[in-house]
Amino acid sequence: MTQQGSSPVGDDADRARIAWLRDELHRYAHQYHVLDAPTVPDAEYDRLFRELQALELRHPAWTTPDSPTQRVGGKALEHFATVRHRVPMLSIRTETDTLASGAENFDARARRELALAPDAPAVEYVAEPKFDGLAMNLRYERGVLVQAATRGDGENGEDVTHNIRTIGQIPLRLPPDAPPVLEVRGEVYMRRDDFDRLNELQRGKIAAGAKGEKTFVNPRNAAAGAVRQLDPAIAAQRPLSFFAYGLGEISPPHAGGPALPTHFALLQQLRAWGLPVCDLVEIAHGATALVAYHERIGHLRDSLGFDIDGVVYKVNSLALQQQLGFVTREPRWAVAHKYPAQEQLTTVLAIDVQVGRTGKLTPVAKLAPVFVGGVTVTNATLHNEDEARRKDVRIGDTVTVRRAGDVIPEVAGVLLDKRVGEPAVFSMPTACPVCGSAAVREQGEVDHRCSGGLFCSAQRKQAILHFAQRRAVEVEGLGDKLVDQLVDAGLVRTLPDLYRLTLPALAGLDRMADKSAQNLLDALQKSRQTTLARFVFGLGVRHVGEATAKELARHFGSLDSIMDATPEQLLQVNDVGPIVAQSLRLFFDQQHNREVVRELRECKVNWEEGPPAPTTPQPLSGKTFVITGTLPGMGRDDAKDLIEAAGGKVAGSVSKKTSFVLAGAEAGSKLDRARALGITVLDEAGLREMLNDRT
Ligand code: IVH
Repeated sequence: MTQQGSSPVGDDADRARIAWLRDELHRYAHQYHVLDAPTVPDAEYDRLFRELQALELRHPAWTTPDSPTQRVGGKALEHFATVRHRVPMLSIRTETDTLASGAENFDARARRELALAPDAPAVEYVAEPKFDGLAMNLRYERGVLVQAATRGDGENGEDVTHNIRTIGQIPLRLPPDAPPVLEVRGEVYMRRDDFDRLNELQRGKIAAGAKGEKTFVNPRNAAAGAVRQLDPAIAAQRPLSFFAYGLGEISPPHAGGPALPTHFALLQQLRAWGLPVCDLVEIAHGATALVAYHERIGHLRDSLGFDIDGVVYKVNSLALQQQLGFVTREPRWAVAHKYPAQEQLTTVLAIDVQVGRTGKLTPVAKLAPVFVGGVTVTNATLHNEDEARRKDVRIGDTVTVRRAGDVIPEVAGVLLDKRVGEPAVFSMPTACPVCGSAAVREQGEVDHRCSGGLFCSAQRKQAILHFAQRRAVEVEGLGDKLVDQLVDAGLVRTLPDLYRLTLPALAGLDRMADKSAQNLLDALQKSRQTTLARFVFGLGVRHVGEATAKELARHFGSLDSIMDATPEQLLQVNDVGPIVAQSLRLFFDQQHNREVVRELRECKVNWEEGPPAPTTPQPLSGKTFVITGTLPGMGRDDAKDLIEAAGGKVAGSVSKKTSFVLAGAEAGSKLDRARALGITVLDEAGLREMLNDRT
């Protein structure tokens, strides 16, 4: 016996152990990647994996391509080999009409081509999401994954087996009842959370000075880049996923059991063989059901874990599919029905710098108008100088603009190969573009700020708009155009000036009719009666948002107590940390701010004051709510007030940190997301009960 331990007895034991380990590891990987239900801790998987690696090292000849150890490995390739598809990879016709009629047109056409009488029963379809990734053909021979190829031109694709092996969701081996030759077709894609993590990682590398690294514009580009990596070690770091949606070659055609009668049955069979099939695939009878599916998935679109750009309808019966056949390279039995695009190309006309209420300078890309995600976009914020440089947006560039859901439109990336010449790299001006005061970037801050304070008319305007907004002191009808006029005409320099406006002074303004002047004076009069919280919020102290202002008002009861509170006293307030406390002190220590408060009071701006709140714990403290849909008996703002009065917080979007979702009629994607995350959903009655129970 040698030290390598290759005695016949030892060999038999090793062989058996290797087979057992591979089975176990395949099973665990399927549970983890496909079923999302791991049964063993990662450490246990790793332990068995290392044991298998050690055994295969001892017996290199026994290593097979379907071993779990072979997912990552091999050297970088020089180029991709060409693969001729045994069965061509077709594309599908796209129904250009993004409205409901797209589905109706397809059903009408299918019925006509099947020569169905008008009163014949509804055609049975399968409706699926249209995944936004890359089409892939996976070839299994005798149950082992032997090749993965891209679609290419449909006839010839590229051999990307080495990269596709790294996708944990794709089985390297199928169960024994799989046919001897099986080609599975589907989409390789990147999940949104994986995409975000990858870009985060890329940003880190770039910040650390790594050469040749870049961030990716969207999950599809990132997935395409990963699939076409020549080095499998790099591909393995780019997390990809897969959904199966069809077949290529299969032999014998009805291997094993009975012939599969429908597309839906085929998908079930693929799932049973361990391939991931999307849960949103459904059977739909007739046009009405297709329209309903299109609408429902459209609502879900933004809350899904992955990008889709439409839905696909397929005639379910494989016999009818065969009867319908193909026109040129497209089947007559399937159609893609798109949603409005969430990304468009446009050009950067200019990069402006805007001045915010607190003097923050924000670079904004001015874009050639483009319709994306349901709105016309002409501006996209670049946030700050670092961000503008990281994206390397320059004047004249062609850029991708992305707007998904209610999210603010953003420049997702620059098409560098379309750049003409060498436009200048963006840099922040050294002076405020509005007032000329120095623009400074303090150490450790990402933002540049105008140092002009209320000397800067842009900051003054923003401060007035902030004070006048609905959730602050609310001066109805005082919008940005009017504020521009008031400030530019020199009528208003400080907040109290608003309350000194007179009819004759206003009448002198351009395009100001007596009626609108009187309306403004009436609105100002009405705004004099306010609440302490609204007033404090309206002052625009940096870092003091609406919720903090409410907490301050509740805690201290009077403005003087807030103005005179020590940092230690401020820190006692819910929601107030050192940064907010310091900001409040800084604000009220400045004489001119105290003067503004004094003058506003003199102008009869008033509110009720009360005793400081008792320090008993609040019933909903520490709980975060998200409100969605229309509540039967109260407005959303009322619900927000109720929750906050009981110490809870209200957030705008659902995350793992959300405690409850308060849902009314027509609740949209937030409700879906809450369900997906297993967050408790309440209705209005539930909220009231909770408040009664606990108060
Ligand atoms: S079926 C013969 N189903 O859309 C029909 N395709 O041109 C073959 N796609 O490149 C395609 N989701 O990559 C089908 N559920 C789905 C799909 C889907 C995305 C892609 C596919 C192909 C393109 C169709």
